[in-house]
Amino acid sequence: MNIIPPATPWRFCLAPMMRRTDTHFRHLIALLAPNMRLYTEMLTPNAIIFGDRHKLLDFSLIQSPIALQLGGSDPKALLESAYIAIDCGYTEINLNCGCPSNRVQSGEFGASLMKNPETLNKCVRLLTSKLPKNIAVTIKTRLGVDDIYSYDYLNNFIKRLIDNGVNTFHIHARKALLKGLSPKENREIPPLNYDWVHRLKDDFPTTIFVLNGGLKNLDQIKTQLTRIDGVMLGRHAYADPYSLMEFDSQLFASELKAAV
Ligand SMILES: Cc1cc2nc3c(=O)[nH]c(=O)nc-3n(C[C@H](O)[C@H](O)[C@H](O)COP(=O)(O)O)c2cc1C
Repeated sequence: MNIIPPATPWRFCLAPMMRRTDTHFRHLIALLAPNMRLYTEMLTPNAIIFGDRHKLLDFSLIQSPIALQLGGSDPKALLESAYIAIDCGYTEINLNCGCPSNRVQSGEFGASLMKNPETLNKCVRLLTSKLPKNIAVTIKTRLGVDDIYSYDYLNNFIKRLIDNGVNTFHIHARKALLKGLSPKENREIPPLNYDWVHRLKDDFPTTIFVLNGGLKNLDQIKTQLTRIDGVMLGRHAYADPYSLMEFDSQLFASELKAAV
């Protein structure tokens, strides 16, 4: 099986998970899977600006390069919190466009941003134009939301973000339903559709796409890596962290050989 070269820093990612991917869990994963790119839990800009930023943002050195995931839709607050995170050593700012929780809906961020590309692109333009060029501004999104579920919509949604300077997308390969399903059900009931993620890669070949959703074993991961740039693991990483040691060493074996 041919895994897509060249390797990107996003080849093997730990999904952001609230009340899971705190600094302690990430430290464990960094020990087990040193090549895995790590994401914080989703944090709101105001929590960072007004809260205990050391408690929220501190991380051990072995976790870097590390990404902060932000959930918000106020461009200035996003920028201010991104600056604080960069001062703490974060090198990637990931914007959440996939969370379907009630809290997120009332704040009009997370998956609601898929319905509101104007606001989203305003946020993204400010971040990509003001942040230092070595800081990656990335997006984690679903394939659609509620009745907005067509490949054309998704393609245009991604294209506008690319035009505004985003070069890396983490795609949770199912849609979100904002009414009637809990966040947990929203991770299980809408069917997975890897095909649309592959189509995005075909349509935007120079953009980096990381596939997320339902990945549990090395065969699945390797199969995906023949089609797209990276994979992101959530629940499996939490359920069986030790398996990541094997995944990491297998996926990065060729680099290891090259370095010896
Ligand atoms: C407990 C839990 C908390 C989550 N919190 C977040 C979050 O803060 N931000 C986010 O983008 N996704 C969050 N997710 C979704 C995951 O990042 C991921 O997209 C989803 O679980 C699908 O991937 P998987 O099948 O590998 O678990 C969460 C998932 C779980 C299980």
